[in-house]
Amino acid sequence: MNPSRCYGCTYLFLSVVAVVGWHDLDNSEYDCWPLEKPDELNMIDCGGLEMAWVLRPPEKVVSGEEFNVIYSVTVNDEFYQWAVEHNIFVHRSITGAAEARRFCEQHECPSNWKDANGENCCIHHANIHSCPMGYMKAADERICGPWIPDDGRIFTHTISTSGKMTQTNWTAKVVLFHEGLTSLIAHIRVGNMQVALEAKSTVLPTISTVTLFTCSRRVCVKYYVARAAMGSIISVPAVNSDSNASCVTGLSSCTGMPTSRKQLYTHTGI
Ligand SMILES: *[C@@H]1O[C@H](CO)[C@@H](O)[C@H](O)[C@H]1NC(C)=O
Ligand SMILES: *[C@@H]1O[C@H](CO)[C@@H](O)[C@H](O)[C@H]1NC(C)=O
Repeated sequence: MNPSRCYGCTYLFLSVVAVVGWHDLDNSEYDCWPLEKPDELNMIDCGGLEMAWVLRPPEKVVSGEEFNVIYSVTVNDEFYQWAVEHNIFVHRSITGAAEARRFCEQHECPSNWKDANGENCCIHHANIHSCPMGYMKAADERICGPWIPDDGRIFTHTISTSGKMTQTNWTAKVVLFHEGLTSLIAHIRVGNMQVALEAKSTVLPTISTVTLFTCSRRVCVKYYVARAAMGSIISVPAVNSDSNASCVTGLSSCTGMPTSRKQLYTHTGI
């Protein structure tokens, strides 16, 4: 194969890798849909609205441990004109770009997000959805789209918020429980358009406590060793003298002479 053809192959290969992201249509991390009947194929142009992670979900999180995410929602100067032309805003008085901008940047949303809708609030819904990938196939889903409902168990949504376009940065607290690769989306609704920004996290098993004993001829000492999924020891919160306790853990450290902590730690990888 001649060199120029090889370049071609490499380029093709890299392009293919680059587009295998959240969905296979392009390599951006966000996409837009109509509010009604969104699916895996009917994405629409975003018209100049952009979403990005300011504080993205960590690559690895421990099951049950809360973390914060921050995402930004911004629009360029052409957005409002585009939105009017595409009937994005349902508020009756919005007929031009200037009104659309005023509605999004100045009109206060209801104080309770439950009262927010496309008529009275620019970003009338904003939250985080989580989809553990291991359950996606079973649910016949390919991507963590905004259409996947909160089932309260596996696919979950954080509480919704709402606000003006000028808010820019949106924060949410997230807790994930199902172990394994999880797709997270920041989901917003603007008029009758919706947008989702994706990232993935791997959820690791929860922290567990391992009880270990070390014994001298007369006395057993009990250690509580917190063990995290990453295989590291997070802390040794208590070293209790538990006199005359029997060595029931089945660890070799329970026999004979006192064992050093260092040796004990080698057992925590179990
Ligand atoms: C949003 O967050 C970014 C990054 O921290 C910051 O530079 C920017 O000023 C924030 N914007 C607003 C409107 O708070
Ligand atoms: C442990 O055993 C020793 C010697 O057999 C005894 O004197 C002591 O009272 C025991 N301690 C406890 C807490 O049972």
